[in-house]
Amino acid sequence: MNPRYRTAHRGSILHFRSDPGLQDDPASYEYWEHGALILADGHVEAVGPAAALLPAAAGNMPVIDHGHRLIMPGFIDTHIHYPQADVIASGGRNLLDWLEHYTFPAEKRFADAEHAFEVAEFFLNELLRNGTTTAQVLGTVHKQSVEMFFRAAAERGLRMIAGKTLMDRNCPADLRDSAVEGEREMRELIETWHGRDRLHYAITPRFAATSSDAQLQSAGRLAREFPSVFIHSHLAETRDEVAWVQQLFPDSRSYLDVYDRFGLLRERATYAHCIYLDAGDRQRLAASGAGAAFAPTSNLYLGSGLFDIAASDAAGMRFALATDVGGGSSFSMLRTMAEGYKVAQLLGQKLSPLRAFYLATLAGAQMLGLADRIGRFAPGTEADFIVLDPHATALLARRSAQSRTLSELLLVLMTLADDRAIASTYVLGELQELA
Ligand code: GUN
Ligand code: ZN
Repeated sequence: MNPRYRTAHRGSILHFRSDPGLQDDPASYEYWEHGALILADGHVEAVGPAAALLPAAAGNMPVIDHGHRLIMPGFIDTHIHYPQADVIASGGRNLLDWLEHYTFPAEKRFADAEHAFEVAEFFLNELLRNGTTTAQVLGTVHKQSVEMFFRAAAERGLRMIAGKTLMDRNCPADLRDSAVEGEREMRELIETWHGRDRLHYAITPRFAATSSDAQLQSAGRLAREFPSVFIHSHLAETRDEVAWVQQLFPDSRSYLDVYDRFGLLRERATYAHCIYLDAGDRQRLAASGAGAAFAPTSNLYLGSGLFDIAASDAAGMRFALATDVGGGSSFSMLRTMAEGYKVAQLLGQKLSPLRAFYLATLAGAQMLGLADRIGRFAPGTEADFIVLDPHATALLARRSAQSRTLSELLLVLMTLADDRAIASTYVLGELQELA
């Protein structure tokens, strides 16, 4: 039998065990200023203080010393559109205007599989350069957009979730499927890709406004038939969208109720935005086990509104951070944390730096039902991690040198840092060499 391939990484180490909440619960995280992360065959074998772990770790395993840098689990982006890599930083008065003028035209190009593969490669590079190792990703209506994405993700050994968008009405004719065609394509994609390598399929109705009753019924039917498959959509992002959905589904109590009636609320279901919900919706979302993707750069860029952290907490809702590129204005989860902090400020609420880093790592894994594999360092979890350099720029070095506590350092990083501070990204213990 081959001996297990082991390596050790030294540096400051931070990871979470649970939600720090509003009080920065000290039991919610582990931090070692001089820590060690020991890997065996791409998985975590042990984590803890270097002084205790390294002498005891037998054998002549290579030790990679990251010095003062901070090792943490890779970021998890719970909602992002890969076909919108070329739409980021387009104008648009609001969501519906932006969809019509920028997004739908860009998505039409994904009828061409070669184009889709080229964008998927660029997109994955960009995620990894930003320290994001897992994402829940929308493709376009074209089946091959998802095939090309999964192919590119599998080549890199990444844990990724993706699905083709279902759209059978209220969209351009050449971006339209039908309930029957959409279901056939989903079944083929689930059969071929779900559970293969580190890939997962998500049933992805774009949003209630672009699917007929028949298509939402079909999505609910598949969600019941394949309980391990994910569900992924948008919900209550803007006031105009909410009013439109209410017109399209006059019998539903609320926008959320549309998804509920079609059996689309359950664990492993993620709804992006969740801004315009009432207390009943939030209670129902929490009870169903579905979660919300909080996408602050998108909500501010498109002028959609402010995600209410306090109301979500009060209802016991699950939520985690997301970039929502291309409505979102950055691939960086650090930039996303910074904007999330400002959204909380505008509502007179609080998002502590510790909680922001939790929402960018373990919270995503928990919401996606993947916390036994990613999002934290525990023996047996997959070694997807990043190394953050608090000295990456002159300003970062100057400011972080003056931080006295971990919380102060994290606030400096999330406020000032971006992809320049991601010194390295590891996937299953392998350093990613990025263009
Ligand atoms: N709602 C429906 N489609 C989209 C989309 O592509 N982006 C965002 N942010 N919201 C949506
Ligand atoms: Zn989105």
